[in-house]
Amino acid sequence: MTARMPIVGGNWKMNTDLASAVELAEDVVAGCGTMVESCDVAMFPPFPYLQAVGRALGHHGLVLGAQDVYPKPDGAFTGEVSTAMLLDLHAEMVLVGHSERRHVIGERDDLIAAKLTTALAAGLKVVLCIGETKEQRTAGTTRDVLNTQLTAGLGTVDADGMRDVIIAYEPVWAIGTGETATPEDAESEHAFVRERLAELYDADIADATRIQYGGSVKPNNAEELIAGPNIDGFLVGGASLKADDFLAIIRAAAATADAGSSERSYREARNA
Ligand code: 13P
Repeated sequence: MTARMPIVGGNWKMNTDLASAVELAEDVVAGCGTMVESCDVAMFPPFPYLQAVGRALGHHGLVLGAQDVYPKPDGAFTGEVSTAMLLDLHAEMVLVGHSERRHVIGERDDLIAAKLTTALAAGLKVVLCIGETKEQRTAGTTRDVLNTQLTAGLGTVDADGMRDVIIAYEPVWAIGTGETATPEDAESEHAFVRERLAELYDADIADATRIQYGGSVKPNNAEELIAGPNIDGFLVGGASLKADDFLAIIRAAAATADAGSSERSYREARNA
């Protein structure tokens, strides 16, 4: 099996102001030290703070990401942001299909798929977020939902494109609620997603694709969650707004990386 580099992302959602965003980024950079060699770390600040946060991240090996993108190059799309704009600010990664975009804003799978393919074509890494609601879980349709969101979201992405795709499994009922999937349930859904990737692509791609867990990840549950063999890191909301908590979660993920592994982060591989 391929050793997958863990990846932890901080999704700041609609939080922080300019000063606190920069301070948070600086504190995370200062605390990360050499952990970035064993764990990819990404931060997704609100659009208006991307540039300032990018400056704060500097060249310390952390990744600047955006929370969303629109799948058109330019034009009359009031309020939207293009891939070129993100690249201008040195963003390297983007979230698509986050549950708040799906359930609060009302985005559907076809728009999410368009965002994903547009972002990949522009050279961005993409985190495709999927997850079931409480009602869907109770109704026993979790896997149908995950399968639909995964298959529709990936759309026409080919094997080559999958190199730049990360999946985030975020059960909607666990987001911002303090309720976390049990490590067993999270592992089981991650294993299902990986199985589906093997069917959609092949075993090697399924094996190489990183699957993050998101939903009330905190310093006190990160270690037991990351112990799942199919859990390759986290997408963190609330706890990513506190540098100490976010760093503790990164530490838990970095500790799982095989110290002797010759695997390089995608950043090193890309720059090689
Ligand atoms: P919380 O960690 O606040 O539950 O948010 C998770 C999330 O939505 C990350 O994208």
